[in-house]
Amino acid sequence: MTLLELVDVTASYGHVQVLDGVSLTVPDGGAVGILGANGAGKTTTLRAISGTVRTGGKITFEGRDIRGFRPDQVAALGIAHVPEGRGTLPQMSVMENLRVGAYRRKDRKGIATDIDYCLELFPQLKDRIGSRGAALSGGEQQMLAVARGFMAKPKLLLLDEASLGLAPSTAKAVYEAIRRLRAESGIAMLIVEQNATLAFSLVDTATVLETGRNALTGTSAELKGMDEIRRAYLGG
Ligand SMILES: Nc1ncnc2c1ncn2[C@@H]1O[C@H](COP(=O)(O)OP(=O)(O)O)[C@@H](O)[C@H]1O
Ligand SMILES: [Mg+2]
Repeated sequence: MTLLELVDVTASYGHVQVLDGVSLTVPDGGAVGILGANGAGKTTTLRAISGTVRTGGKITFEGRDIRGFRPDQVAALGIAHVPEGRGTLPQMSVMENLRVGAYRRKDRKGIATDIDYCLELFPQLKDRIGSRGAALSGGEQQMLAVARGFMAKPKLLLLDEASLGLAPSTAKAVYEAIRRLRAESGIAMLIVEQNATLAFSLVDTATVLETGRNALTGTSAELKGMDEIRRAYLGG
């Protein structure tokens, strides 16, 4: 079953149109990647879904037209957005950040269980549970951002450049945890990533954006085999 579908989506900041017809499909429980150079429109595509940019075209979630929904309405449907730059709350502790992620939920036992799960998934956060967001390393902040997204118990997680600015070993550890989260939770994921090696380690299919349009779409295996992908994204 299709969970999320974008057909010919356009998006504009003021009078400047930056998405020029983006299409993609995320199946239930699927993981889909969005690759592309800086400025290609990856972040804007996630914003189009979460309702923070003006859009045209068709955006459906569980068969329902959600284009034009406000961000809180989109979140209420079960879409959690882990934005570029992480968006952890710097003045709040790790525990408070996790609780903020769960603010729509009423199942106290479930929330407690899920906090324990996050701390098992990211043991580094356990040691920093009382530390403020601002005191965490970049890697720890990214782990917290992913964990906070999970705490919303979403059906779909939008993840924007989780590896950005992290040491390679840290980025790899973050992706390993996300892979485990995917396997254990079944949450569908739409993942923006410039590091194609990391993206292909997680996603089933991906689309490459160029100046606000789909340039290539395929399975991870198909894309990995393409010369232009190898040259542009896989270092040879
Ligand atoms: N808030 C904004 N106002 C105006 N233009 C923007 C804004 N955010 C992004 N853009 C422009 O939109 C285009 C796509 O940006 P973005 O979606 O952030 O790309 P990516 O995430 O692929 O690097 C770029 O040309 C960028 O300069
Ligand atoms: Mg971006």
